[in-house]
Amino acid sequence: MVNFDQVWTRHLLLFVVILIIYFVSEARGAWQNSVKAKVVSKLQEHKVDKFPGNQTHSDHFKLLERDGNYLLVGTKNIVYNISLATLQEKKRLEWFSSEDDIKVCRVKGKSEDECQNYIRVLALKSESVLFVCGTNAYKPVCRDYNQTENEYKYVEEHSGEGLCPYDPNHNSTAVFAGPINHRTDGDLYVATVAQFSGADPLIYRKPLRTEQFNLKHLNSPNFVSSLHHEDYVYFFFRETAVEYINCGKTVYSRVARVCTKDKGGPHKYRNRWTSFLKARLNCSVSGEFPFYFDEIQSTSDIIEGFYRGRKSKIIYGVFTTPVNSISGSAVCAFRLDDILETFDGPFKWQEDINSNWLPYQNSKVPEPRPGQCVNDSRTLPEMTLNFIKDHTLMDRAVPAYWSQPLILHTGFGYRYTCITVDPQIETVDGSKYDVLFIGTDTGKVIKAINAASASSDNKVVPVIIEEVIVFQNQAPVTSLLVNNFAFQLKLIVVSKDEIYSIPLHDCERYALTCSECVALQDPYCAWDENRQRCTSAEPRGWLHGKFVQNISHGWDDKCPEDRHSTTSLSVARENGEFLLC
Ligand SMILES: *[C@@H]1O[C@H](CO)[C@@H](O)[C@H](O)[C@H]1NC(C)=O
Ligand SMILES: *[C@@H]1O[C@H](CO)[C@@H](O)[C@H](O)[C@H]1NC(C)=O
Ligand SMILES: *[C@@H]1O[C@H](CO)[C@@H](O)[C@H](O)[C@H]1NC(C)=O
Ligand SMILES: *[C@@H]1O[C@H](CO)[C@@H](O)[C@H](O)[C@H]1NC(C)=O
Ligand SMILES: *[C@@H]1O[C@H](CO)[C@@H](O)[C@H](O)[C@H]1NC(C)=O
Ligand SMILES: *[C@@H]1O[C@H](CO)[C@@H](O)[C@H](O)[C@H]1NC(C)=O
Ligand SMILES: *[C@@H]1O[C@H](CO)[C@@H](O)[C@H](O)[C@H]1NC(C)=O
Repeated sequence: MVNFDQVWTRHLLLFVVILIIYFVSEARGAWQNSVKAKVVSKLQEHKVDKFPGNQTHSDHFKLLERDGNYLLVGTKNIVYNISLATLQEKKRLEWFSSEDDIKVCRVKGKSEDECQNYIRVLALKSESVLFVCGTNAYKPVCRDYNQTENEYKYVEEHSGEGLCPYDPNHNSTAVFAGPINHRTDGDLYVATVAQFSGADPLIYRKPLRTEQFNLKHLNSPNFVSSLHHEDYVYFFFRETAVEYINCGKTVYSRVARVCTKDKGGPHKYRNRWTSFLKARLNCSVSGEFPFYFDEIQSTSDIIEGFYRGRKSKIIYGVFTTPVNSISGSAVCAFRLDDILETFDGPFKWQEDINSNWLPYQNSKVPEPRPGQCVNDSRTLPEMTLNFIKDHTLMDRAVPAYWSQPLILHTGFGYRYTCITVDPQIETVDGSKYDVLFIGTDTGKVIKAINAASASSDNKVVPVIIEEVIVFQNQAPVTSLLVNNFAFQLKLIVVSKDEIYSIPLHDCERYALTCSECVALQDPYCAWDENRQRCTSAEPRGWLHGKFVQNISHGWDDKCPEDRHSTTSLSVARENGEFLLC
């Protein structure tokens, strides 16, 4: 039962908080929500490739793996292998559940649609061997397939328990990673849910798992992504926060990690991680009352770049407020070094069930320090293992790089759903910007940058370059991918039932003059003084010619027109097909 009064009080509180941050930030002149897209556009059909899937039923696309120039997409009963360049189907792997499995599933009360085989996990064990898992009518199964010239040959079958969810809608994630060479000697790391009822969430790599039914390990998680980097596999998810002991429940975003060398502990710990740790991710607007975007929805890959002249590895993520509250979305970035530092910091603990969660005194932490990567975890002392069983949560939250969201959107209309990044696009003067592509739940894609990223560690200047309406039917964008092979620069946009491939930029279409071109602040676009056109540096490079571009300020004295006319420019071109603001 939902308590109406409680919900209302919560709404009201949130509303007041939003008002407060609105006025506080307005006073500082930093309220980002006023950032408008420079261009709002529709797709030009002739510049778009589409993969429609099966048009007679809903496909439930899930992007599973990129294999060079090909994309492997899991759907109902099929894995499609499609060309990234053209979005044409090259091959397909068909795998239907048996009549018996479907019958049992139906008897258990699931619908005909649920009692199908939704392919949710795929890993390339080698050039030719695919490891594939499907929900198989609520009885998950994994299979090895050999790839031959024209088809995929079924080799053998294993139980999918703990590797693939029963429910096709469950948010699971998997990554193939290994201590040595991730193609030939790897293991599958999965964050998913076991059991028909979905009551047993776990992070699993055969034979190691998180503690079963231990809310301190995982508490109703929604897994978002997983990444392999050096000695660790990282998992990003949101879950009910055990450390939040006020009334009601709340969800926090987390990053967790396990060591790829983990072999489990001795005796009763032989099937348990000895290295599982997790920490809260802090994506918030600071102020007297910080305002949190607590529910992570998506992450980018690890991006390696130069920020204010310093080399860093960062991960971008999309965060939202809870569904039943004032709608707000934000993009925050986290440095890998800050994540590691948080895992090296104090643990959080609770003396007994009614006391507050506090930092654990460092001097009392057993040696060797729990949660580290060690050569042979089976020799770890009991003390260390007992400690890690109950203390998986770090005390400090991972701070956001730049200390604040890079882009945010509050109010009704839409929420952000996913993100991808075209990293470190080089501009005419040699500085580099990460171009962010953000999907929304209304079928739009937003292209944005932090125009201060090249020069500052703590200042954010959000620029929304473009907002494109991709799916006319407003289908939520579920994943995004940049295809950055030379000459095929495209953004792949995925919804539940369609995949589109759209241009990454369209400099010439949006800007006809020098000042318009510079005003776009698009790292892909610069005014070519010789050809008198707004052009891109395809294929990557501004070596030949004279170009005008100013990403940080959006105007340049070299443009003959008055700079003031560009900032207030608002014209509709091509019959209102797009708007330059
Ligand atoms: C679409 O799915 C239906 C079954 O749901 C099948 O009969 C049909 O052949 C499929 N079409 C294509 C183009 O794969
Ligand atoms: C996808 O199809 C292409 C073209 O047939 C093939 O070269 C590639 O190996 C396939 N990838 C996988 C993982 O099946
Ligand atoms: C699958 O491929 C592997 C290696 O290419 C080969 O050793 C094996 O015999 C093949 N299995 C089947 C069933 O084709
Ligand atoms: C999975 O995540 C999506 C997007 O956040 C959410 O709408 C959906 O409810 C989640 N699925 C489940 C089973 O919780
Ligand atoms: C999160 O970050 C904000 C802004 O930097 C800060 O004010 C707040 O105290 C942090 N919250 C936590 C839980 O660390
Ligand atoms: C772990 O193993 C590596 C290589 O096998 C070795 O160089 C290193 O000294 C070992 N570390 C410890 C703490 O035993
Ligand atoms: C952009 O314009 C600002 C203000 O005129 C100037 O300080 C800066 O050097 C310019 N940047 C480039 C790359 O031209």
